[in-house]
Amino acid sequence: MTWQATILTLFPEMFPGPLGLSLAGKALREQRWAVDAMDIRGFATDRYRTVDDTPFGGGAGMVMRPDVLDAACAAAQARNPGAPLVYLTPRGRLLDQALVRELSTGPGVVLLCGRYEGVDQRVIEARGMLEVSAGDFVLSGGEPAALLLLDACVRLLPGVMGGVASGAEESHGAEGLLEYPHYTRPAEWQARRVPDVLLSGHHAEVARWRRAEAEAATRMRRPDLWDKHLRNELARPARLDGHPAAA
Ligand code: ADE
Repeated sequence: MTWQATILTLFPEMFPGPLGLSLAGKALREQRWAVDAMDIRGFATDRYRTVDDTPFGGGAGMVMRPDVLDAACAAAQARNPGAPLVYLTPRGRLLDQALVRELSTGPGVVLLCGRYEGVDQRVIEARGMLEVSAGDFVLSGGEPAALLLLDACVRLLPGVMGGVASGAEESHGAEGLLEYPHYTRPAEWQARRVPDVLLSGHHAEVARWRRAEAEAATRMRRPDLWDKHLRNELARPARLDGHPAAA
């Protein structure tokens, strides 16, 4: 079954955009996923095709109308039945690999990209939208956030990554650690040598070194992820050798 992305946007030309190239583009051509960008303006009912209005209570900017968006959502959900309706907004839950994994194992997603100051709260509630943020920064619209959510989901679809490293080993993989550093030839470059252990051919030693580097990087760069990792380790049953169980 093809994983279906249905996008509600005022700028349908932005899709598939960069996702038409590279890994995601190849998967798109192979029909491992499909993208269908719908123009919200097509659901406006007045002669000016109005999609927004001034905010009640005053203030800057414009708010997207609930009636227009509701009609757009109904059409998108009819085209993509069973897919969750995700509204990209800096007010949403932070996108993380756990949510990406969850979305990528479902039938697909309907993504609502907002513009202007936001979307009338009533349609968010009436449609039970899942509000998702790409990070603690403000974009000019939801489209770039939608593209990055799709990129993260598509690469996890069956057959997309092929021989590339398994999801478990990379940053934010099953263990919740950042990845260890990588090196390739030449073994010495600008007087910087690759760590000896990587040239040793000693697989167990290499694995131990990589694990230690991943832990150190996570502890120093992302104490929030490190705390989460430690909590997860504690929650797992201990192995006989005293190490925490593998995921
Ligand atoms: N729209 C504007 N900023 C956003 C963000 N950080 N994440 C998702 N959608 C957005």
